[in-house]
Amino acid sequence: MKRACVIGWPVEHSRSPLIHGYWLRKYGIDGAYSKQAVRPAAVMDFLKSLAANGFVGCNVTVPHKEAAFEAADEKDDSARAVSAANTLWLADGKLCAANTDTYGYMTYLGLAAPGWDARAAPVSILGAGGAARAIAYGFLKAGVDEILLFNRTRARAEALAAQFGSRIKVLDWNERQARSREAAVLVNTTSIGMNGEGSLDIDFTGFNPACVVSDIVYVPLQTELLARARGCGLRTVDGLGMLLHQAVPGFEKWFGVRPHVTEELRNILVADITGRPC
Ligand SMILES: NC(=O)c1ccc[n+]([C@@H]2O[C@H](COP(=O)([O-])OP(=O)(O)OC[C@H]3O[C@@H](n4cnc5c(N)ncnc54)[C@H](OP(=O)(O)O)[C@@H]3O)[C@@H](O)[C@H]2O)c1
Repeated sequence: MKRACVIGWPVEHSRSPLIHGYWLRKYGIDGAYSKQAVRPAAVMDFLKSLAANGFVGCNVTVPHKEAAFEAADEKDDSARAVSAANTLWLADGKLCAANTDTYGYMTYLGLAAPGWDARAAPVSILGAGGAARAIAYGFLKAGVDEILLFNRTRARAEALAAQFGSRIKVLDWNERQARSREAAVLVNTTSIGMNGEGSLDIDFTGFNPACVVSDIVYVPLQTELLARARGCGLRTVDGLGMLLHQAVPGFEKWFGVRPHVTEELRNILVADITGRPC
């Protein structure tokens, strides 16, 4: 039996077992996927002993993503761009790392907002943490000419821009509404709105009617930001799709089947998030 897991500290909140457990059942695979709580001091030992502990790979959540990147022998482009990894697998005795957040975000954006145009207008990114890095990298790869980057701590945004080059323009956090009016996509990558805490307080009146508003926070599923955007007639993209799609490459590496993100799987996650049966 092939075994994979998600490691974190804490790890109890992770919804990855729901996703991978669904696919293992759906494809009739003799495999298992578990949660492993790993203390920061123990993470390197755990990763170096993955095979010895019977695992073919793992997902990695907070606070171990940078350690996972460091531990890997081989790293994909996105992991290198972000200097962090969320997916590890063993190949020919080597520990390989990917950051699949870029893939997850860009794939779901394409599916949920078909026809969004990478070259039509700037993209506004709110936040400059790990997720912002993965998403900025995705937009640059997609051919976006200009990314407007807003972060509470400006120095962090400047560090991100310094890494990715002149297509990223850093603006003050308090300019986020006024300077995003022409955006083709506005994405919240901050944790504001998570569990209903705080609000981004953006008024979308007068925004480009083609603007797609996306939020990677997925608890609640419909954040206040998305509700405001919809109220102004804009297309919206929730954060759950990113979570579901980022899981695809890992499952394929570990279990040898490229899984599909189905409506049934999404409904299982929605039920878990909302506490309502599917
Ligand atoms: N949907 C998905 O699959 C997915 C994937 C990854 C992450 N996420 C979610 O995305 C969020 C960010 O994750 P991350 O890994 O990038 O975290 P991170 O590296 O800790 O970055 C957090 C970001 O949020 C900003 N922020 C936090 N509180 C703020 C506040 N009160 N006002 C203004 N800005 C604030 C931080 O600004 P400063 O730099 O000023 O502190 C920073 O830009 C989390 O909620 C996470 O759960 C979702």
